[in-house]
Amino acid sequence: MGVEMNRVLVAIGLALAVVFLGGHGAADPVRKGESMPSVLVIAHRGARSVAPENTLAAARRAAELGADGWEFDVQMTKDGELVLMHDEALARTTDAGTVFPGRSPWRVADFTLHEIQKLDAGSWFVAQDPFGTIASGEVPPEKAAEFHGERVPTLREALLLTKELDLWANIELKGTPLSPLSNRSKDTVDKTVALIRELGLTERVLVSSFDREMIRYLKRIAPEIAGALLVISMPSDPVAYLREVGADALNPKASAFDRDAARGLGMAGFGVYVWTVNEPADLSRFAREPDVTGIITDWPQRLRGILDAGR
Ligand code: G3P
Ligand code: CA
Repeated sequence: MGVEMNRVLVAIGLALAVVFLGGHGAADPVRKGESMPSVLVIAHRGARSVAPENTLAAARRAAELGADGWEFDVQMTKDGELVLMHDEALARTTDAGTVFPGRSPWRVADFTLHEIQKLDAGSWFVAQDPFGTIASGEVPPEKAAEFHGERVPTLREALLLTKELDLWANIELKGTPLSPLSNRSKDTVDKTVALIRELGLTERVLVSSFDREMIRYLKRIAPEIAGALLVISMPSDPVAYLREVGADALNPKASAFDRDAARGLGMAGFGVYVWTVNEPADLSRFAREPDVTGIITDWPQRLRGILDAGR
């Protein structure tokens, strides 16, 4: 199957997702001329301003707050299982240091799933209140209390909940960029693809990575699954940058966003998902960008409010 044909199929898939999601949508150029274009509200690591990041509780809060989807980070355990965790180490967002005191530096890759499932991935959020939302009352005490004992989810659990909640998911595959692809990274992509297919979520996910080789491999083995490249600076020729690996979207850091580059990507049929946008003025500004497909934010409640109010 030719590359162009693959892209057409992915575009059809994204269009179906738009219909499925009720119009907040990916490849939906018709809406882009409106004063407040439709843009996907994507909760970064779940609704991490009001719940512990990369947990099922964060996905539930994202859905309750009106997000279209959630972004989460995936890593592989020592025994080859896929779990949600942002940092290479477990220490910041779990009690690994207390439960396994002799296992510094607590790398995800050095722990089995069984060990990781013993950890509390919620209490740190209550103790540290990283976004000040417990102190402000946005997260009431009884809600915060529910976070104690929250577990590190597996990718399967995260995708099952995505389906149950009618959400869309941006699965970020973490890895150590290597060329050629390491066996571990290849295994991560293989297992992710198998799960997406098994659960019938092909039209509801975007797999992204900073690792070009992972996305190149993803598109080789699963051209029907949308893939995105994460960047912290804008490539000189973004369209060529995506085409070279067969990706469907570019996910730039907000500071790297460039309207002309986004225009070129939009005209060529690629998605643009900007991260991580949190300030109300920035959310409003990016929501008005005609070629921004989705906004990844720690504060989906703010973005939903802005979109609903047409601000
Ligand atoms: O996917 C966008 C964003 O999540 C990438 O950065 O460090 O938050 O995973 P990070
Ligand atoms: Ca991420």
